Amino acid sequence: MKTQYIAFAATLVLLTTQPAFADSDSMQDEMMSSELMMPAMNSSEGRKLFASKGCVVCHSVNGVGGEDASMLDAEFMDIPMNPFEFAARMWRGAPAMIEAQEDELGYQIEFTGEELAAIIAFVHDPDEQAKFSEADIPDALKEMMEHLEEEEEEEEDHD
Ligand code: HEC
Repeated sequence: MKTQYIAFAATLVLLTTQPAFADSDSMQDEMMSSELMMPAMNSSEGRKLFASKGCVVCHSVNGVGGEDASMLDAEFMDIPMNPFEFAARMWRGAPAMIEAQEDELGYQIEFTGEELAAIIAFVHDPDEQAKFSEADIPDALKEMMEHLEEEEEEEEDHD
């Protein structure tokens, strides 16, 4: 009981001593302390980025995307999620992933923390994922994916 009171009191102190946080009408980025904040995790923005950044070339969501790497449907994610855990999984997969990116895309994908947060939100949001379709993939990437598929088929024919 005592610890609950202390936690409650601490919350009150936080709310009353940080008027900028309590009054913020945007509430987009959430202050965790005076040094840390959680970026807005906008999953519909993430749906666009998952496609435009090129994750979709190798990973699929909702059956849309490449088959070279793991499916990133929300059903395969931990619930509740710790967003940093997803980043840690990317870090573990990084050597293989960067090699594949340089091989297939010709470059290493870059993103800001804000963009990665949006992608992580999308990866954990089944409702937003249900909207994901081929239409989200920019034409240039779509062409690249078709080209990669043809190459793979040709390689299979030669085997
Ligand atoms: C060119 C191919 C390619 C692209 C593009 C790519 N990945 Fe990967 N990814 C891989 C490979 C290969 C691995 C390592 C093998 C594996 O775990 O599936 C991997 C691993 C991962 C993992 C760890 C797998 C797991 O199940 O824990 C995550 C998470 C991930 N990628 C997320 C992303 C995100 C987000 C993007 C876009 C910003 C992206 N990847 C773009 C190929 C790619």
